[in-house]
Amino acid sequence: MLIRDFTPEDCTALVEILKANLQYGDPLTEGPEAMLRVHKCPAAVFLVAEEDGKPVGMSRGVYDGSKALIHIVSVHPDYQRRGIGTALVRETARRFQAMGATNVSVTVPGDNLDFWKRLSFRLTTRIMFAHPIERVIMGSRERQD
Ligand SMILES: CC(C)(COP(=O)(O)OP(=O)(O)OC[C@H]1O[C@@H](n2cnc3c(N)ncnc32)[C@H](O)[C@@H]1OP(=O)(O)O)[C@@H](O)C(=O)NCCC(=O)NCCS
Repeated sequence: MLIRDFTPEDCTALVEILKANLQYGDPLTEGPEAMLRVHKCPAAVFLVAEEDGKPVGMSRGVYDGSKALIHIVSVHPDYQRRGIGTALVRETARRFQAMGATNVSVTVPGDNLDFWKRLSFRLTTRIMFAHPIERVIMGSRERQD
């Protein structure tokens, strides 16, 4: 297994992995064009796990100069439980540390808390989410329950 930086050629395979894991809910933020924007963002750490020359997993996160946050980790269902997710998170943390980070958070622990706990994460704050962003800017009386 090889953990390396994302390259634009990875887009198609990564979209397939996200779809297989039901993590492709919003193509605007998860699709190929978003991937290319993340690739160009100096604050982002966007890694790919490769097995036999093909992408089998990915992780994406950002360090803003103060806090480091992992947004997504996704391993192809056929390649899960082989240590690939752990390797992606560890390398992401190493990259963040090299950029100056002293801690790291993750936004989306779903039903896999044990995966994150084994990597020393503990459950703290809940994340709130607004979409589309215009609702925040313009204001909306509509409750998002
Ligand atoms: C969660 C995920 C990234 C883990 O990747 P992985 O490569 O399978 O994980 P690892 O092989 O490194 O797992 C290490 C340990 O974490 C735990 N673990 C892994 N997946 C788990 C899961 N789905 N639920 C609970 N614990 C899990 C296990 O203890 C595992 O060790 P074991 O296989 O010896 O029992 C992967 O299952 C995945 O992509 N899931 C779908 C997308 C997702 O939920 N991503 C995370 C939120 S962004």
